[in-house]
Amino acid sequence: MSDLDLLQKKIKELGIGRVLVLVDEQVDKLYPHHLYTLETNIPCEKIIIPAGEGSKSIAQASRIWQQMLQWQMDKDCAVLNFGGGMVCDLGGFVAATYKRGIACINYPTTLLAMIDAAHGGKTAIDLDGVKNCVGVVRQPAFVMPANTQFLRTLPERELRSGFGELIKYALISSKPLFEELYTMDTLTAEAIQPEWIQHCIDFKNRIVEIDPDDRRERRVLNFGHTVGHALESLFAQKGQPLAHGEAVAIGILYESCMANQAGMLPKEDLSRIESLVSKHFPLPVLSAEDKARINGFMKQDKKNNQGKINIVMLKRIGEACGPSEDNGFGKSPISF
Ligand code: GLY
Repeated sequence: MSDLDLLQKKIKELGIGRVLVLVDEQVDKLYPHHLYTLETNIPCEKIIIPAGEGSKSIAQASRIWQQMLQWQMDKDCAVLNFGGGMVCDLGGFVAATYKRGIACINYPTTLLAMIDAAHGGKTAIDLDGVKNCVGVVRQPAFVMPANTQFLRTLPERELRSGFGELIKYALISSKPLFEELYTMDTLTAEAIQPEWIQHCIDFKNRIVEIDPDDRRERRVLNFGHTVGHALESLFAQKGQPLAHGEAVAIGILYESCMANQAGMLPKEDLSRIESLVSKHFPLPVLSAEDKARINGFMKQDKKNNQGKINIVMLKRIGEACGPSEDNGFGKSPISF
């Protein structure tokens, strides 16, 4: 069954009467007719938003809500997020809040969305430079299976961004996957194996089923993100934005160093992580002022508790423990 046949079948099964397609300018330019059969068979509207993290704003959310209201979209409508992590986060948030919640379908076109953002129901917009500050957890009605053909048109930087999240999944869940990523020569769309993507989806779905609201077990999926989100916010403010997965990859390295310093992650594992991350990601030079600002951002992290910064700790390659476990940092403030 083709992607579009499957999508149409699911939309019918879910009783969806009308679809709002949310897509960014880049994806719309690359795939202007991809949803053509859907658009001719089911009543569809389309909103095109500017590409990039800047669209995860209350202004864009409000523009979409207002347009939906003008189009008289009811509860039987669904938002179809066709694109990467930004579209899934923003469209998911809009769908979860419009008329107290309508269905949302994610159709991921980037590696990052295929393995992470399209799954698990986290939706958000940013506020005052703080990533994902406002949002809800609401599971999508359906997520389209990963179609690796889309990766062939992905800009190199976006592919690398997804690779950062892929490294995260390997580190928290599978030493064999880490070894495959470690021995991969060049990062290309063709080098990305569908089994790697499926591994991440299966692992994430298992964790999300146990802890959908991100209170305990799910926090392990935030490995690399405490420092990563802070770096992302810092570099966005400096006008040199990092892609999400780039920031996560660098965050992974810093958080691995912290785990090693806490006597948890063995030195040999840290060296291998360092060599994989630095092979694919340029490491930023941080001034004393940058570090102070990173500490400020980390204080806004959603895993924090009673003003203390919590961090996911890596025990070894393939296994992490969440902030709910006694990881040496859970009860004391850390600083960058
Ligand atoms: N991206 C981490 C999570 O969905 O929990």
